[in-house]
Amino acid sequence: MMLLANSEAWPGFSRSIECLNGGMAGVDALVEGIGAVEREAKVRSVGYGGWPNMIGRMECDAAVMDGTTREIGAVGAVPDTLPVARLAREVMRRLPHVMVTGEGARRLASELGFPLDEVLHPDSKRVWWERLEKELSAEALAAFPDIPLVPLSHAITDPERVRDTTVFLAKDAQDGLSAVTSTSGWAWKYPGRLGDSPIPGAGYYADSRFGAAACTHTGEMTMRCGTARTIVLALRLGHTLEAAVDLAVTELRELQAGFIGGVVIHAVDAGERHRVVSINCDGPIYYWYWKDGMADPEKRVAEAL
Ligand code: GLY
Repeated sequence: MMLLANSEAWPGFSRSIECLNGGMAGVDALVEGIGAVEREAKVRSVGYGGWPNMIGRMECDAAVMDGTTREIGAVGAVPDTLPVARLAREVMRRLPHVMVTGEGARRLASELGFPLDEVLHPDSKRVWWERLEKELSAEALAAFPDIPLVPLSHAITDPERVRDTTVFLAKDAQDGLSAVTSTSGWAWKYPGRLGDSPIPGAGYYADSRFGAAACTHTGEMTMRCGTARTIVLALRLGHTLEAAVDLAVTELRELQAGFIGGVVIHAVDAGERHRVVSINCDGPIYYWYWKDGMADPEKRVAEAL
């Protein structure tokens, strides 16, 4: 068994270890852990602690993937709902679909008994409004949000540089690989924007025969490259984990136009090797690692490429 997650995972990492040690299947163990991250106000890029979109509404994205069956459930731009990773698992279990977004996802949540949740933290609301007050004229503020948002989306592009998320990858006691993601997405995003966290093959992918990968930071890049799928396909084609991740990084670096920012890749292979790398990021990037036999999880530093 093993568990790998990004730095934001700290509120739920031990919970997922407990679940894996208890024999729980990977997806379920990861949904348990991520539920704790989604409720933690100190995690400023996921669930309750995250940042709203440009008009001050929280829209969360999440996904689960079972690498043994390659079944996926994903939700995007979900309003008023926590925990969204659990809702993504319900998409996988109950619907003949892979992804449900927006009001449809909220409708599903209501059908399944998820309460209407106030996801916007008062501090996030305050910071969001103060940022708008700095940027907009008195006239535009009075008319807000019925003003053109396109210029604003460039002016206040992610002022806090929050394009993070939480990603968990596990190998469970049955040797199944799985991936689960959750995020509030890019701070001050245009309403309805989806990042890579719900998009299969971009923000996550798992195939128990070969490996699994998940990304944080700039989903606008990993969606263009299909980064997580590149890594798992490269493993399938016989690349080492080192070479598979290098290939994904090469593809990301080939992007010249469009929005370019930081990306962090978390990857494991079926032999329980792992590699975490960052590109275009300031300062050290941390991640959490645990393997059965280890008494405690370790916080490690990603390779900066
Ligand atoms: N990687 C998270 C996002 O782009 O929303």
